[in-house]
Amino acid sequence: MVIVVTGGAGFIGSNFVFHMLKEHPDYRIICLDKLTYAGNMSTLAPVMDNPNFRFVKEDICDRDAVFKLFEEEQPEIVVNFAAESHVDRSIEDPGIFLTTNILGTQVLMDACRMLMNKENSTFKRYHQVSTDEVYGDLPLDRPDLLFTETTPIHTSSPYSSSKAGADLLVMAYNRTYGLPVTISRCSNNYGPYHFPEKLIPLMIINALHDEMLPVYGDGLNVRDWLYVEDHCKAIDKIIHNGRVGEVYNVGGHNEMANIDIVKLILAELGKPESLIKYVEDRHGHDRRYAIDPTKISQELGWSPETKFADGIKKTIHWYLENQAWWQPIIDGEYQDYYEKMYSKK
Ligand code: NAD
Ligand code: DAU
Repeated sequence: MVIVVTGGAGFIGSNFVFHMLKEHPDYRIICLDKLTYAGNMSTLAPVMDNPNFRFVKEDICDRDAVFKLFEEEQPEIVVNFAAESHVDRSIEDPGIFLTTNILGTQVLMDACRMLMNKENSTFKRYHQVSTDEVYGDLPLDRPDLLFTETTPIHTSSPYSSSKAGADLLVMAYNRTYGLPVTISRCSNNYGPYHFPEKLIPLMIINALHDEMLPVYGDGLNVRDWLYVEDHCKAIDKIIHNGRVGEVYNVGGHNEMANIDIVKLILAELGKPESLIKYVEDRHGHDRRYAIDPTKISQELGWSPETKFADGIKKTIHWYLENQAWWQPIIDGEYQDYYEKMYSKK
């Protein structure tokens, strides 16, 4: 099996590449990544010598480059992780989110159609990695409400709107052109190689430096956290056994308020809560996300394996042991972003 994984130098994509090479050692995995600020070649160092792995530095929006690669490699499955992924950045500058997340998806699916329409085509599946943020948010005082696959799309940020736009296009390509597609909508991931701009790594790294921990608003916003390997396992099941044309929600019934996560990280690192600083809230900040994973659980037998208490400890220890991975990021262009984001708060 030949699989193109886009965005494989980022957080979830790289974990997926590792998972696939380990679980399916006979598959050929091609990673297509533009290496934006969020992509990191040092993440992929452990697999660069694997003969079943190839890295290609290209932009998913570059039609000629994508068509050329697909002609050359004839992938049977394409899994699209490539995206601008950070909500705060989308509020500052939405344009690139629309370009990469929507138009890039179109280019990839057009290239898949080209493969699908060939004589004796072996093309099997285009899988879109989406997010629970397309459903908008839920109130804090209705714990009975969860996102299901039929919850209407109702986005809040430029990021979530771009992901929702892509999802609609994916479904349109299925209905209009018969492209065999699936979509997964996952809740917040955490684990190794998570870029330091996101809540959990940011708090771990700032706590290690005894720097302030910026908590947005009242800190009571809730996210439904899933260990990244569990997400990778869910996608593996969907691309092999998921039904074409279907959406699968992925989440672990693990709702946590931001402030509780921040306090847990401080306790684990033996740092004082006086490091916490409540700062200006994110514009349009979604209050609560919560996934109902019944469909993927019943149809595909998926359920999360890592408990949050274990996963967060593993993650904190990974950051303690892998400063060589995150220090160059902190020292690089990220520094300017961080100063710009937090100096005004
Ligand atoms: P990330 O920002 O860590 O990585 C994104 C990767 O995509 C980077 O390697 C980057 O270089 C690459 N990329 C960006 N633009 C590109 C382009 N034009 N062409 C080729 N490559 C490009 O993101 P992540 O957190 O790993 O998220 C991966 C996917 O999963 C995204 O589609 C995101 O919307 C979705 N998702 C993320 C989460 C989460 O909690 N992080 C949850 C649900 C869904
Ligand atoms: O739900 C899935 C989504 O999860 C993915 O689609 C996105 O790609 C991913 O980035 C993530 O989005 P969030 O906005 O939920 O993640 P983030 O880590 O940016 O923020 C998590 C929560 O923590 C959110 O309520 C905002 C808050 N926060 C975040 C940062 C960076 C803070 O309080 N302080 C911070 O400094």
